[in-house]
Amino acid sequence: MQKRVFLIIVLVLLCSAIAAYAANEPKYILYTQRIRDSPQTIEPEAESLVRSSFYALDPIIVSIPRWLGNSSTIEHSTVVAAKLDQETCNVITVDLEGITNESDIIESVGNLIVLFNRQFDVSLEQLSLVGFAEGAHLAGGVGEKVKTDLGQQLTKITALDPTAANGELLQHKLSTQDAKFVEVIHTNSGGAGTWEELGHVDYYPNGGDSQPGCDITTGIANACSHERALHLLNEMWSPSNGFVSARCGSVLTLSAENCRWSSLRMGHADVSTSASGIYFLETHSSTPYSRGAYYIGFL
Ligand SMILES: *[C@@H]1O[C@H](CO)[C@@H](O)[C@H](O)[C@H]1NC(C)=O
Ligand SMILES: *[C@@H]1O[C@H](CO)[C@@H](O)[C@H](O)[C@H]1NC(C)=O
Repeated sequence: MQKRVFLIIVLVLLCSAIAAYAANEPKYILYTQRIRDSPQTIEPEAESLVRSSFYALDPIIVSIPRWLGNSSTIEHSTVVAAKLDQETCNVITVDLEGITNESDIIESVGNLIVLFNRQFDVSLEQLSLVGFAEGAHLAGGVGEKVKTDLGQQLTKITALDPTAANGELLQHKLSTQDAKFVEVIHTNSGGAGTWEELGHVDYYPNGGDSQPGCDITTGIANACSHERALHLLNEMWSPSNGFVSARCGSVLTLSAENCRWSSLRMGHADVSTSASGIYFLETHSSTPYSRGAYYIGFL
C-alpha cells in the first residue's frame, strides 16, 4: 500500500516536472504542401518527427514570429503561403505564446536545427530562417547557437522589418556573424522597425519607413508599414521576382536619384551570398507590389 502511494507521488512529481519544462518550450507546427490545410504539431525530438509528415530531403524553412507571436499570427500564414506556393518543402512555424525568456527560445529552436542535422542528416544548405520584428533577432541568436554547437554557420537568415534590439527584451542583436548570408527588409524603420543596417544586404523599399497605401492615421500606418514586409514575401520568393533594386551609399540618401540600379532583386533566391550593401526600390501600394523593369527606366 505504502509502496503504491509512493509510486503515485513520484508519478505526479514527474508529470508536473515535464509540464513545467514543456511550458518553457515554444511549440512547433509543421506545414507541407500535402498537409497545408491540416498542419501537424511536432515535438522537437526525433520520434515525433519520424511520425510526422516531415521529409528530411526537402528544404526546411523555420518561421520565427514577433515577441510572443502565436500560431495564428500573420507572419506565419504569409510565410507558409509564400513558400508552399513555390516549392515542395517543410515550413515549421514557432509558437511563442507565453514564452518570455529569450535564451529558452534560442536554445529550443537551436536544438531543433541541431537535431535535424545530426539525426536526419539535414545539411545547413537546405535550411533557412525567417524572422519578423523581434523574431529577426531571435533567428540571429539561433544562428549563433548553431555555429557553437555544430561548428558551421546557418546558410541564410531573412529578417523582415527587424525591431531595434534595445536590450530590454532581447540581448542578442542580429548581425552578419549569425549566418553566411543575412538579408534584411526594412519597411517601418522610423516606427516599429530600425534604420540600422543589420545584414550583409539591407533593402529599404520606398525609403524603408512608410509604405505606399499605409498613409492612414499614424498608429495604424506604422502597423501597416511594419507588416508590409510580410506581404512582399510572396513576390520575393516567386521565380518572377520583379523587385529590381538600386544600390545606395548610405541610408541618408535613399532615393532613385542618389542610388545606382543594380541587378539585385530583393529577396530573390538567386541573389549571390557574396552580395552586400544598402538597396532602395519602389513598390506599388498593393499586389502586385513589384514595379519590375519598368521602374529601371526612371533611374
Ligand atoms: C494568438 O494571439 C492573438 C493576439 O494576441 C489572439 O487574439 C489569439 O487568440 C491567439 N490565438 C491563439 C490560437 O492562441
Ligand atoms: C531564462 O532562462 C535561463 C535558463 O533557461 C535562466 O538562466 C535565465 O535567468 C532566464 N532569464 C530571464 C530573464 O528570466
